Amino acid sequence: MSCRVSPVGIFDSGLGGLTVYKAVRELLPSEKLIYFGDTARVPYGTKSREAVISFSKEIAGYLILKKVKMVVIACNTATSLALPEIRRMAQVPVCGVIEPGVKAALATTPPGGRILVIGTNATVASHAYEKALHRINPSVEVMEQACPLFVPLVEEGWTDKSVTEDAALEYLSPYLSKKINTLILGCTHYPMLEKVVRNIMGSKVHIVNSALATAYAVRQILEKEKLLAPQRCRGTDRFIVSDSPGHFSVMANRLLGLSPQKVMVKRF
Ligand code: DGL
Repeated sequence: MSCRVSPVGIFDSGLGGLTVYKAVRELLPSEKLIYFGDTARVPYGTKSREAVISFSKEIAGYLILKKVKMVVIACNTATSLALPEIRRMAQVPVCGVIEPGVKAALATTPPGGRILVIGTNATVASHAYEKALHRINPSVEVMEQACPLFVPLVEEGWTDKSVTEDAALEYLSPYLSKKINTLILGCTHYPMLEKVVRNIMGSKVHIVNSALATAYAVRQILEKEKLLAPQRCRGTDRFIVSDSPGHFSVMANRLLGLSPQKVMVKRF
């Protein structure tokens, strides 16, 4: 049955946050979800801090107007730069992707181990991962590598092309001799390139995709705040983008097997 419960709002610059959306949908089948992809302004990772904060606040404000009971920032770049601002403006809980990913990474990294974080230029420049990892465990060695071509390649659906493998090799080969224990996919687009990354890094490196960890964090927050939808409710999905809804639908299907029924457009 459909129930009168408030939705959870999830946003990203484009398709990447769908990796988080998918994990939340699987874990919380009774919830109403609204997904917003800022396809008119993707990528965020090459934009200034001011731009990312302003776009993120605009979208969070829009979701709040839609009466969401929680905001999930399914974007590492926006989490790195705008999480405190969004928390300040929202009267509802706000969850980013970095803390859940950091906890998942530390759970499988030995003391003093080596962690490589890959992300957008903006995420890497913010050192948000390094700070969050060291806050919990100062003994790990953290390396950070920006991979700015990855997001456009994913948005284009080029997850298995040789140009993508070449770019990945260029970014990652300097780390092959560094005895990396754990690699964090520090951008929600990157799980769609996990196979390419795995082929380069080899089977011994533990690869962390924070989507699942974020979904568990969302459930924990909703439980704690007594905001979980009753189990008898049937979840619903709404997809909203700021441009090109057709491309979004096709790619959501091709990359993640999702079939958004209807994708609305909201321009800012
Ligand atoms: N998927 C986002 C992230 O996790 C944004 C990437 C981008 O738009 O550059 O960082």
